[in-house]
Amino acid sequence: MPAFDLAIRGGTVVTATDTIRADVGVRGGRIAAVADRIADAARVIDAGGLLVLPGGIDSHVHIAQPSGPGIVMADDFASATRAAAAGGNTCVMPFALQPRGASLCEAATAYRAQAVGRCHVDVAIHLIVSDPTPAVLGQELPALIAAGYTSFKVFMTYDDLVLNDRQILDVFAVARSTGARVMVHAEGYDAIRHMTERLERAGQTSPYGHALSRPELVEREATHRAISHAELVDLPIVIVHVSGREAMEQVAWTRARGLEIHAETCPQYLTLNAEAMKGLGSDDAMAGAKYVCSPPPRDAGNQAAIWSGLQRGVFEIVYSDHCPFRYADEAGKLNPRGRTSFRWIPNGIPGIETRLPVLFSEGVSKGRISLNRFVALTATNHAKLYGLYPRKGSIGPGFDADLTLWDPNRCETIRQENLHHGADYTPWEGFPVTGWPVMTIVRGEVVAEAGRVVGEPGWGQVIDRTVDRGGMAA
Ligand code: URP
Ligand code: ZN
Ligand code: ZN
Repeated sequence: MPAFDLAIRGGTVVTATDTIRADVGVRGGRIAAVADRIADAARVIDAGGLLVLPGGIDSHVHIAQPSGPGIVMADDFASATRAAAAGGNTCVMPFALQPRGASLCEAATAYRAQAVGRCHVDVAIHLIVSDPTPAVLGQELPALIAAGYTSFKVFMTYDDLVLNDRQILDVFAVARSTGARVMVHAEGYDAIRHMTERLERAGQTSPYGHALSRPELVEREATHRAISHAELVDLPIVIVHVSGREAMEQVAWTRARGLEIHAETCPQYLTLNAEAMKGLGSDDAMAGAKYVCSPPPRDAGNQAAIWSGLQRGVFEIVYSDHCPFRYADEAGKLNPRGRTSFRWIPNGIPGIETRLPVLFSEGVSKGRISLNRFVALTATNHAKLYGLYPRKGSIGPGFDADLTLWDPNRCETIRQENLHHGADYTPWEGFPVTGWPVMTIVRGEVVAEAGRVVGEPGWGQVIDRTVDRGGMAA
């Protein structure tokens, strides 16, 4: 009997800290050895000329999430994880959303049931707390955290999700006492409502109004408020999807005061521009809706600021914020109310399959970030921040054999027709990239190869986590 189930031979193994020429030996779905030469294996994959990376972890995606009356998200677990696999990802982290007035436990149980048996890659589930009743704060949330849902998101905007300051402080206190990780969507609800109504009164109802209704200062103010609440409660929160310089400066200011805070960003804030919401060059007045997400993409100056934040370590994670709605669909971007005002256009863009190529190409291939930093930003730090480490997120004995074979020299152009998600467009249509995933391996099984998804839905597991209290005072 061979010593290994699988050997990946002749590649360059990259982790967040090292780049070495080595073979990788897999046994029982886990990495068993990283060595000069692994000979005795049942199956051999030739990785000559390729990078062997920890599989991408996309720690913030939206899959089959309730999105309001008449609106349907474009991906279920099968299609989202199919696209994730094709894009070089081995684990994704979507959100079980508590509808107002409903039980958080029931929402989590029902959401998990949608995932089981349908996923191509592994899944770990965050919660969204929209209704922090005494029962949720006192019983449901602590019970779910203990059961393995160790992270949750709260919103400072959106009619159906927004928490007021007192509620935010109360959920922060639960996270403080349980060790859960809290993500904050920091945009100010009242300021956005004020701007939205003002724009509508002035007749500015087209998709570009979305960008005008959420200027940078709306994000900066909410970021500052969230950070202040976190300081009061002594909780190291995560500021998610930071879009521009002003919010980023709040994070840097907090760190300079010696406080722990985490910050994440997305490819859209590195590569897309608010101008796209004007739909220039198209005779379709709604074309800009394809870029409507929150916070909105900003301008070239802010893109440069976010790149510098990546280089200086302000950001630890780049995820996709995949939130797919079909464009040419009454249940998506072109719902009838959306045509009357930007405020009804569902927020979110697809990106689960394009995150790694866009970041590699614009980051590594263009010399802005190192290969090791790429791995940290796309896999290792996700695992560390959200309780998947040391099971996932790196390459070494004992880690799950979650690997992506990557061709750093392959030139491709992103095209919707080649993608695997349920959306009918990509914001990166025609975007040229250098660097491409050629094989994705989840726990030792090949799930995607040469642009085809070859794994069975159901191979992906739903993973429970335990609270990592490292770095947090008791
Ligand atoms: O526009 C976005 N990002 N929609 C997804 C929900 C969220 O706030 O992350
Ligand atoms: Zn958000
Ligand atoms: Zn999101």
